[in-house]
Amino acid sequence: MSQQTVARHKTALSRTALSRPMATALSDGLLDPTCSVFDYGCGKGDDIRHLRSSGYEVGGWDPTHRPNAHRTPAKVVNLGYVLNVIERPNERADVLRAAWALAEDLLIVSARMNWDARDLVGRPMGDGLVTRTGTFQKFYDQNELSGWIEETLGIKPHAAAPGIFYLFRDEAAAQRFVASRVYTYRPRVRIDPQEHYEANKEILQPLFDFMRNHARAPSPGELPLEQSEAIREALGSLGRAQRLVRQVTDDAYWDQVTIQRRAELLTYVALSRFGRRPRFSQLDKPVAKDLRALFGNYQEACVQADRLLLACGDQPMLYVNARGSRIGKQTPSALYVHRSALGELSPLLQVYEGCARVLVGTVEHATMVKLSVTEPQVSYLVYPQFDQDPHPTLQSAITVNLRKLSVDWRDYSRSESPPLLHRKEEFLGPDDPRRSLYERLTRSEMKAGLYEHPERIGTLRGWQATLEGAGVRFQGHRLVRA
Ligand SMILES: C[S@@+](CC[C@H](N)C(=O)[O-])C[C@H]1O[C@@H](n2cnc3c(N)ncnc32)[C@H](O)[C@@H]1O
Repeated sequence: MSQQTVARHKTALSRTALSRPMATALSDGLLDPTCSVFDYGCGKGDDIRHLRSSGYEVGGWDPTHRPNAHRTPAKVVNLGYVLNVIERPNERADVLRAAWALAEDLLIVSARMNWDARDLVGRPMGDGLVTRTGTFQKFYDQNELSGWIEETLGIKPHAAAPGIFYLFRDEAAAQRFVASRVYTYRPRVRIDPQEHYEANKEILQPLFDFMRNHARAPSPGELPLEQSEAIREALGSLGRAQRLVRQVTDDAYWDQVTIQRRAELLTYVALSRFGRRPRFSQLDKPVAKDLRALFGNYQEACVQADRLLLACGDQPMLYVNARGSRIGKQTPSALYVHRSALGELSPLLQVYEGCARVLVGTVEHATMVKLSVTEPQVSYLVYPQFDQDPHPTLQSAITVNLRKLSVDWRDYSRSESPPLLHRKEEFLGPDDPRRSLYERLTRSEMKAGLYEHPERIGTLRGWQATLEGAGVRFQGHRLVRA
């Protein structure tokens, strides 16, 4: 088949919802109705329609479906699943450059991944294949796509999700994005009921939140003007308001907040090292202030973060750290942690997980993270029914190998006996409200003898047989006689 007869016009799908790259940018807070959007290679224009109906100013061009539209610059440009369908590598690079030239703030680039090709029948052509319908498809490895983008544009892309990358025009915006990915956790706070505090509680809330998030008091101008004015009017000054907040809370609480914020900042500084480490002036302003307040200066934080990165490459060190973790479930080869508890891991383990996320981005719907202690490998596990099902089954897993820089996907959705979870409480943080319900269930399962043969119960079939043998079933999270 000649290159001319490849049926590019057949590649555009009809979409009933926003495409994954656009939806990802939206959930990452990078799209909002104040920014203009241009969809480069927009296909039938469904994304344009969806965004317009939500009030966005959107344009788009497609050589087949909208050939007469103008290609105009916009704050955000999307190049969604276009590169795959172009059979000539030179043309792919030209298209990427043309889309980047239009992007004022952000370019979103997506392409189909190698695992999408698994069930596809096709004939090899160039570096891809021609499918039965006559369309060309080039499938990418995550790292291959990222490397090719960087080589073509000379700019480091940031992985948003598997097969989706962001390119930021401004380094400060890129750094804001990197910082936003660090998991945060704050311990529960106990407030002494004091009349003066209770009477001004609502007015004080923004100040409280700021102190809690940043582990420091706000500098002038960091709280919105009307909020700081309201505080001043009610309490005389911001200083007095801070003292009141401290009076009704424990010092130990603020010590913990400081430890958490320091860990978050170290994780961020470690992860910002991928690509070129940002200069202090390129950091997001509040983050820069937090670094000064909690580390004295940026250099000190960089030294400590580099130590963490180095330790991440040291398998025995990781092993010891993971084995000492108060959070998560230990198995001989890994530590399993529910996504909601990731912010409670030690800084070293957070950087370990963060390194995998630098490569793969956010794995949508991943409920659980598996940190291998025997190999430099992190897996993102999707258990869609984690909350509802007392023993949820594994639907899919994405595994990132940090030595090979590979990203692989495994589908369990068609398996007749997929792996399943027991003792769900062990994956959660200590103050997670779901814990007591799950613990109660585990106790009754142990009493019923369901865990006597651990080798039988790790997959669905074996577990069902065990339940049947014991004559029990589940009603929600309660074990009842069958
Ligand atoms: C798989 S579709 C993706 C459409 C849309 N972005 C989406 O996500 O639904 C690929 C599109 O790339 C367009 N395309 C092909 N060659 C192109 C080129 N050189 N420049 C821009 N778009 C191109 C095709 O016309 C087709 O509509």
